Amino acid sequence: MVDGRLRSSVTNAQAEHADFGGIVPEVASRAHQRLIVPAVHQALSEAGVQHADLDALAVTRGPGLSGALLVGLSFAKALAFGLGCPLVGVNHLEGHLASVFLDEEDVPAYPFLCLIASGGHTQLLLAEAEDRPPRMLGQTRDDAAGEALDKVAQFLELGYPGGPEVEHLAERGDPAFHAFPRSRPGAYDFSFSGLKTSVLYYLKSFSEAERARHLDQHRADLCASVQEAVVDVLIDALFEAAAETGARDLALVGGVSANRHLRQRAARHATDTGRRLFLPKMEYCTDNAAMICAAAHRRLQHAGSLDAVPDSLTLDADPGLALA
Ligand code: KG4
Ligand code: ZN
Repeated sequence: MVDGRLRSSVTNAQAEHADFGGIVPEVASRAHQRLIVPAVHQALSEAGVQHADLDALAVTRGPGLSGALLVGLSFAKALAFGLGCPLVGVNHLEGHLASVFLDEEDVPAYPFLCLIASGGHTQLLLAEAEDRPPRMLGQTRDDAAGEALDKVAQFLELGYPGGPEVEHLAERGDPAFHAFPRSRPGAYDFSFSGLKTSVLYYLKSFSEAERARHLDQHRADLCASVQEAVVDVLIDALFEAAAETGARDLALVGGVSANRHLRQRAARHATDTGRRLFLPKMEYCTDNAAMICAAAHRRLQHAGSLDAVPDSLTLDADPGLALA
């Protein structure tokens, strides 16, 4: 990022996880180790920037898998030490929230509501002011939305990550084929494990041969029905909170916000209710370094000076780091 403008963004999908049907922490750490140096070189070269030009370095310090966080943090600390430049440790979720500020033409105004839906988190937040941590209105009590989609995809014998696979098949399925549960266990809390289990029991109700036949015939219908249940819950919570808090600006971020059906329904609902909806560009929905950079840049800008923000080189990874 140069003068607040993103100049390059490099992401590396780790295809090796598909063989295991999910992320294997040890495999993720090793892939990070292998990819981090070439990714940083590529980002600098695409931006036309040298190491020595860097004023500050941003790095994710949590929440996430400790091994992967440690690889990033160790690398960033060493680079910051070598270059003598400040290091800014960013909360992964603060990064998702900042992803709607990457498009500087049109950004949400405080206070705004933010729904983070990813593979590890489903949280509804009220961002009241830039200099205050957002207020948590609700979160999942068990599985995250993306996690449930990944598991259902596994039951339906689809690949990993499951969200995009479910979305793809759902395009030609009937969302009303089966009514899967839409659970809202408390004000703005979420629960997706019941949905996951109900898909499992639905499939178990068939004999093995029947199940194979049923899946061949109705896999797309099941994907559409599951996707509809997830989208219903997310949209209902977001817009109920909007009505209650009076928030005019809404942000929907995290890997699941890449779901086109969710984006379209949320956009339609926002128009119908006179609200403004902010969605990250598709490439900044799933985990990416640009959003971490955007969060650090906003913090540096708010502090007004590079010296006011930096974390010390003893900064540690925190796999369970909370945002609010
Ligand atoms: O934010 P993210 O990249 O990583 C975490 O912080 O967890 O989110 C990944 C999650 C996965 O569960 C993935 O299945 C889901 O986002 N996801 C989607 C789509 N693309 C990614 N879910 C539904 N529709 C999509 N198009
Ligand atoms: Zn994420």
